[in-house]
Amino acid sequence: QGRGGVPIPGGGSGGVGNGEGEVHGWTGGASSSLLWFGGWQSRVTPHLAPVRCLCWQTENGVLLPSLQSALPFLDLHGTPRLEFHQSVFDELREKLLERVSAIALEGKLEERYKKLEDLLEKSFSLVKMPSIQPVVMCVMKHLPKVPEKKLKLVMADKDLYKACAVEVKRQIWQDNQALFGDEVSPLLKQYILEKENILFSNDISVLHNFFSPSPKTRRQGEVVQKLTQMIGKNVKLYDMVLQFLRTLFLRTRNVHYCTLRAELLMSLHDLEVNEICNVDPCHKFTWCLDACIREKFVDNKRARELQGFLDGVKKGQEQVLGDLSMILCDPFAINTLALSTIRHLQDLVGQDTLPRESPDLLLLLRMLSLGQGAWDMIDSQVFKEPKMEAELITKFLPMLMSFVVDDHTFNVDQKLPSEEKGPIPYPSTIPEAYTKFLQENRIACEIGLYYILHITKQRNKNAFLRLLPALVETFSDLAFGDIFLHLLTGNLTLLGDEFALEEFCTSLFDGFFLTACSRKENVHRHVLRLLLHLHHKVAPAKLESLQKALEPTKQSGEAVKELYNQLTEKLELRKPSPAEVTETPSMELPLPTVPTPASR
Ligand SMILES: *[C@@H]1O[C@H](CO)[C@@H](O)[C@H](O)[C@H]1NC(C)=O
Repeated sequence: QGRGGVPIPGGGSGGVGNGEGEVHGWTGGASSSLLWFGGWQSRVTPHLAPVRCLCWQTENGVLLPSLQSALPFLDLHGTPRLEFHQSVFDELREKLLERVSAIALEGKLEERYKKLEDLLEKSFSLVKMPSIQPVVMCVMKHLPKVPEKKLKLVMADKDLYKACAVEVKRQIWQDNQALFGDEVSPLLKQYILEKENILFSNDISVLHNFFSPSPKTRRQGEVVQKLTQMIGKNVKLYDMVLQFLRTLFLRTRNVHYCTLRAELLMSLHDLEVNEICNVDPCHKFTWCLDACIREKFVDNKRARELQGFLDGVKKGQEQVLGDLSMILCDPFAINTLALSTIRHLQDLVGQDTLPRESPDLLLLLRMLSLGQGAWDMIDSQVFKEPKMEAELITKFLPMLMSFVVDDHTFNVDQKLPSEEKGPIPYPSTIPEAYTKFLQENRIACEIGLYYILHITKQRNKNAFLRLLPALVETFSDLAFGDIFLHLLTGNLTLLGDEFALEEFCTSLFDGFFLTACSRKENVHRHVLRLLLHLHHKVAPAKLESLQKALEPTKQSGEAVKELYNQLTEKLELRKPSPAEVTETPSMELPLPTVPTPASR
C-alpha cells in the first residue's frame, strides 16, 4: 500500500497484508471497504454504527488530513460518503491489480513468485468477497503453480471455479481428466453439429461448398479458438484433447474429429506454441499437408517432403502412424489427395504413361490408403501401413484412364464428318471389373467417386449417366455418405438443364437416389435438398411422381419432414391457384380492339 499512489496513513492494518482469520464474517458490499480504511481497528459493525454520527464518520473515513477539508464540499454536492469511499476503493483495487501484474513480471523468477505466493496466502481467505475476489484471482492467475490446497478449494466451489482465470483452470484440469472432459465435450458436440449443418445446408451453391473455406479461415472458428485457448501451452491438456478425439473417432467413425485434430495442431502452430508443436511428431507433416490443402493440390516438391516424413517414421515409434493416419483421414486432406489423383491421371493420359510409372501418383495412393485405414488402425492398435493392392494400380486406374480416353475419342469422332458411319454412340456400358472395384476396394471407391464429381463438374452428361449405375452398390455405402452427396448435389446444379429430361431424372433419381432413400435417412435429406434447389427445372409430371416417392414415412425424422414440407410449399406456389383457374374464362372475353398506328 502507499505505492499505489494513494497513501493511507494510520492504517498499518490496511491492505491485504493483514488479518489472519479475523476477516471471517465480513462479507460483501459497503462493509468490506471498512477493511481498507480506519474502521478495521475500531471493529464497529456497520449495523450498530449511527449512520449520521459525525465522529463515526471521521473515525471510519479515509484518515487523510488533507482530505478533511475537502469532504464537506462533497457533502454540499450531495455525494454520499459511501459513493466516495466506493470510488476510492475501486481506484485502489485497480492499482492493486496493476501492481500484481507488474510483480509477476519483475525481479528474479523465484522471488517474484515468492511474493505472489505470500500475497495469495494472505488474501485467499477473502476470495469469496465479491469486491476483493478479482485481486485474489489475479494473484492466482499469475502464479505458474498455484498451491495444490488452494486449487482444491477453488475446484470444490462452483462459483470460485467459474470465476477463476483459464490459467488457473488449466492447472486444475491437468489432474482432472473428467472435469476437463466435461468442459470440452459441449465444444466437440458443437463442432460436429456445425460441420453437419454445412453438409446439409439448404443453400446449394456452385461457388461455395463444404470445402471452400481455407484452412486458416476454418481454424478461426469458435470451437477451435476456444479449445486452443483452453489448452494454452499445456502439453498435458493437449494430449488429453487428442485422446478424446481418438476415442470419439473410434466410437463414432465420424471423420470430422480427424479434421479437428489437424485444425487444433495448426491453430497452435499459428500461435507459435512451440512447447506443443515441438513434441507433436505430426507437426511438420501436418504443416506441409496443410499447405497442400490450401492449394487444393499436392505438388512435386511437397510430395517429396511428405514422403520423407512417412519414410522417416522409425521403428519403435510406429504408433505415430496412428496419428498420421488420422490427419490423413480428415476429409479436407482426402479431398486434396483425391483431386490431385484425378489430375495426375489426366496428365498421365496425355503423357502416354501408366500409373505404376508415376511416383507422385503412387505416393498419393499411399497417403489415401493410410488415411482410409485410420479407423482400422486405431481400432486394432496394429500400427502398420496398409498394403496397397497391386490391381488398384495395374487394373483400376488404367480403367479410369480408359474412360478419359473414351471421352476424347467421342469428342474427336463428333467433329469428324460421319456420312458413312452415322451418329457415333457414347459407350454406354461399364466394365464389370469397375463396378466390382467400387464395391470391394475402399481406395478405388474413393477415387471413383471423385471421378464422378469431376465429370459432373465438366457437365459431361454422357459420362455421368454411364458411370452412375456403379454407385448404387459401393464399398461400405461410400456413395451414400454425406460428404460425397453434398459435393454431388452441388455439382449437379451445373447439369441443371438436364433435369428437364425424363430420361436423365429417371437415371438419377430412380436409378440412384431412390434406391437408398428408404434405408438411409441422410440420402432422403440430400434428395430433398437437391429438389428444393432444382425443382423448377424438373418436368411437372416427373416432379409429381418424385414428390410422391419422397413422402416421409412414419419413421422419418424431423429434418426429412421439414424439408418435405418446404418442398410441398414451393410446389404449391408453382401451381396455378384454384382462383386463377376459375378466373380464366374472364380472360377469354373479347378484348377491346386497340387501334394500332399501322392500321391507320
Ligand atoms: C464439385 O466436385 C469437386 C470435386 O471434383 C469439388 O472440388 C467441388 O467443390 C464440387 N463443387 C461443388 C459446387 O460442390
